[in-house]
Amino acid sequence: MWISFAGIITNYKDVKQFLVQKGHKFRSDTDTEIIAKLIKHIHGLHPNYSFRELVEQVIQQLEGAFALCFKSMHFPGEVVATRRGSPLLVGIKTKTKLATDHIPILYSKDVFEFGGRALSTRDREHSKLKDHRPHGHEIPAHGLARSQSTSEFLPQGDNKEVEYFFASDASAIIEHTDRVIYLLDDDVASVEKEGVLKIHRLKRTLEDTHAREITTLKMEIQQIMKGNFSSFMQKEIFEQPESVVTTMRGRINFDSETVVLGGIKDYIGEIRRCRRLLLIACGTSYNSAIATRQLLEELTELPVMVDLASDFLDRNTPIFRDDVCFFISQSGETADTLMALRYCKQRGALIVGITNTVGSSICRESHCGVHINAGPEIGVASTKAYTSQIISLVMFALMVSEDRISAQPRRSEIIQGLRNLPDQIKEVLELDSKIQEISKKVFEKKSLLVLGRGYNYATCLEGALKIKEITYMHSEGILAGELKHGPLALVDKGMPIIMICTRDNVFVKCMNALQQVTAREGRPILICHKNDQEPQKYGSSVLEVPKTVDCLQGILTVIPLQLVSYHVAVLKGCNVDCPRNLAKSVTVE
Ligand code: M6R
Repeated sequence: MWISFAGIITNYKDVKQFLVQKGHKFRSDTDTEIIAKLIKHIHGLHPNYSFRELVEQVIQQLEGAFALCFKSMHFPGEVVATRRGSPLLVGIKTKTKLATDHIPILYSKDVFEFGGRALSTRDREHSKLKDHRPHGHEIPAHGLARSQSTSEFLPQGDNKEVEYFFASDASAIIEHTDRVIYLLDDDVASVEKEGVLKIHRLKRTLEDTHAREITTLKMEIQQIMKGNFSSFMQKEIFEQPESVVTTMRGRINFDSETVVLGGIKDYIGEIRRCRRLLLIACGTSYNSAIATRQLLEELTELPVMVDLASDFLDRNTPIFRDDVCFFISQSGETADTLMALRYCKQRGALIVGITNTVGSSICRESHCGVHINAGPEIGVASTKAYTSQIISLVMFALMVSEDRISAQPRRSEIIQGLRNLPDQIKEVLELDSKIQEISKKVFEKKSLLVLGRGYNYATCLEGALKIKEITYMHSEGILAGELKHGPLALVDKGMPIIMICTRDNVFVKCMNALQQVTAREGRPILICHKNDQEPQKYGSSVLEVPKTVDCLQGILTVIPLQLVSYHVAVLKGCNVDCPRNLAKSVTVE
C-alpha cells in the first residue's frame, strides 16, 4: 500500500488500539500507519470490495483533517483520493478536449457499518464511542444510484490518453496542466484501470452540488516564482484577489448563504457550548485575531480573549476543559504559539488550528482546524495570509451562528460582502502608483504613526508592523480613542501620520480624532471611503477604498498599508523579502 497523507488523524490512538486488538502489528507511532493497517483490515473482511469502497470505509472511521491518496498492488493501475478539512485537487492532462467540463457525483448506496460504531472522538475522551458517519441534512441516496451513472470521464476523439495529478495546491501541478477539479470534503475520487475518473460521495446532503466543475487555472508556472514582480512580497500582495477566493472556495455557498468548514464541522456543537473562545498567536496572525474579535463576540455571543502567545505563556493563564482555544499561524510552526497550544491541550481545552501550512506542527497537534488555503507565502512579511486568516475567522463566526434566526440579516450582509471582496481588492490594488508617490514623501522620515479605531484598529497594528519589519522605520499603530491619553503629544506638522476613517459605527469618533490631529497642525494621509467628502477635506493626501461591511473593511484598508511598507522599503533600498534579523518561521522561543 502506498499512501500520500497530509493532515492529522485525531482519533489515531483509538483506531490503533482497535487494530492491535485485532492482531495488527505496528512499526511506528504515526497516524499514517494506522490508515494503511485499517484499509488492510477492512480488505481482509471484505475481499470483494473495490479499492474505492475500501477507502470509503476507511474514512468513515477517521477523525481529523486530512487529504489522502492511495495506491495498492492489489489494485494495479488504480488511484483513490479523498479529503476532509485539508485541500485536495485533481489535475487533468489530456491530448484532446474533454467531453465535459463537469463530473457528476455518484452516491454510494451501501453505508458500511464498522461494527456498528466508529472508533472514538477527541483524544481526551478515550472512552467515548460515537457514530461518525458523515452527517448534515441528509436525504436518502435513492436519486442517483451507481448503476445509473453518467459520470465516466474521458477525453473526446481517438486519443484517450489522460494523466491525473493529485495535489493540495495548484502550484504543485501547474507545470503539467491548468485544468483542475477542486474536491470537497468527503469526496472520494477514483481513477480506475481504463483511466476513467469518478467522484463518489457516501450520501447526498441538501447542500450538495451534484457535480464538480473542471476549472481552468489562471495560474502560470511563473506564479510560483517571482514572475514580473520585483519581490515575493509584492507578488503576494497582488495575489490577494485570488487568495481570498481560494480561502472561501468550497466553503461558502453564496446562493444558499451557508458556510461549511469541513475541518471543524464535527466540533460545532461542542464549540457552541463552550465557556469562552481564546485566540492565541504572534505578529500578523495575532493582528488577524484583533481584526475579528468584535465579530466573533457579536455572532457567537461568547466571551472572546485575544492573546499574544509569548505573553499568554508568561502569565500561566488559567485554562479550562470547556475553553475553545484557537491557534493562528501562517507557518504552523511558530514556537510560542505551538507551546501555548500544548499548554492548553494539556489542560483539556479543545484546540483549533488556523494555519496556511498543511501538515505543520500546529495542524498536527490540533483537534480540528481550518486551512486558510492562501497558497505558499514566501516573503517574510505576511500579507495574503493575513487577509485569508481574517476570512477564515469570519467564516467560522458565520458557521457558528447559522442556527441564530436573529443573526440572519447580519450573516447575509457579510456573506454578500465576502462575495464582492475579490473585485474590491482589485480596485484597491489600482491605487498602487498613487501609493508609490505618497511613499516618496515619507520614506526619509524617522517615524510613521497609523491611527484608527473599531474594526480598523487591527489595520493600524498590522500596517505599523509591516512598516517596522521591512523598512526599519519606527511605526506605531495607535487606537484613535487613546490619542488624548498620550500619543497626541507626538503630533505636529512634521510628524507623518496615516489615518483610517471609514463610515462605520465609530466614524464620528474618528472624525473627532482627525480634527484633534489637524488642530495640532498634523497633516494626515487619509484612508477613507470612495467619494466621502467629509473626512477628505482634512487629508494632505487621500486614498479612497471601496465600502464593504464593517467587519470586512479591514481587508480593504490594510492593503494600502502593505503597499506603503513595500514602496518605502524599496525606496530605502531594503531587502523586501528578507528583512534583517527576521525569519519566516520563528521556531525558537
Ligand atoms: O507563522 P506565524 O503566522 O505563526 O508567524 C507569526 C509571526 O512571526 C509573523 O506573523 C510575523 O509577525 C510576520 N513576519 C509579520 O509580517
